[in-house]
Amino acid sequence: MIRLENVSLAFEDKVILDNISLSIKKGEIAVILGPSGAGKSSIIKIMVGLWQPDSGRVFIGNKDISKLSELEMLPLRRKMGIVFQGNALFDSLTVEENVSYFLKEHGGLNSSLIKEKVSEILSFINLEGTEKICIDQLSGGMKKRVAIARALSFDPEIIFYDEPTTGLDPINAKSILDLIKRVSERGATSIAVTHILNDAVSIGDTLSVINEGAVVETGTVYDMLRSENKFVKDFFYVVYQDAALLKNKKFYK
Ligand SMILES: Nc1ncnc2c1ncn2[C@@H]1O[C@H](COP(=O)(O)OP(=O)(O)OP(=O)(O)O)[C@@H](O)[C@H]1O
Ligand SMILES: [Mg+2]
Repeated sequence: MIRLENVSLAFEDKVILDNISLSIKKGEIAVILGPSGAGKSSIIKIMVGLWQPDSGRVFIGNKDISKLSELEMLPLRRKMGIVFQGNALFDSLTVEENVSYFLKEHGGLNSSLIKEKVSEILSFINLEGTEKICIDQLSGGMKKRVAIARALSFDPEIIFYDEPTTGLDPINAKSILDLIKRVSERGATSIAVTHILNDAVSIGDTLSVINEGAVVETGTVYDMLRSENKFVKDFFYVVYQDAALLKNKKFYK
């Protein structure tokens, strides 16, 4: 469904992506996991065609998008939903105005169909009745839901999540992860990038661990646990350690 073949990108002298090859199957939730600055958001920008790689190829289905112009990308972009790292919502507009924004711009639907669509999506994300509330009055978790709702407005075949739970408390984070799984069950192929290991393990059918712009390991959670790669071991060790600490703590008398 999505394939990166030897993708490299540099800004001036700084290598951002270093010979990245990745393959994401239709319908799966693929997680790209890596520390801050590893190149996660850059990979998303390459996959959605916002950036072109210096070398290598990027396939969406059978189409190589690595050299397409913004205009040539448009039909493909309609098949994609993007949930940006900082949500990129219009804070002074209402929930309804945000969710319907692209439908009004490009959807060709009349206003009553748009209303219907918005209320169907809001009910799917458990925010029914919030149409008239302004974004800046919402909590972080609700804003993230609205960002997901907007990404769903075109029934995307592929949905990208950039750090979907960053900044959320554990309960809201869990409900966003549950929502990502429910979106996936509707049939979309999902790509989530995160630095949070628990999130990756919770939702990922496959994981790709990246560091300094390069893929260091790809596979299932079980593959990661068996990895001999030093970076993967170090990254996963933190969680082992937390789990071990919890196990040894006596919570109950
Ligand atoms: N437009 C740009 N010009 C120059 N360098 C950039 C640009 N965008 C990103 N970078 C650099 O590319 C590297 C990777 O950035 P990227 O945003 O992809 O990382 P990330 O893994 O998403 O990090 P984070 O977890 O902090 O969001 C960083 O060193 C960043 O400073
Ligand atoms: Mg990022």
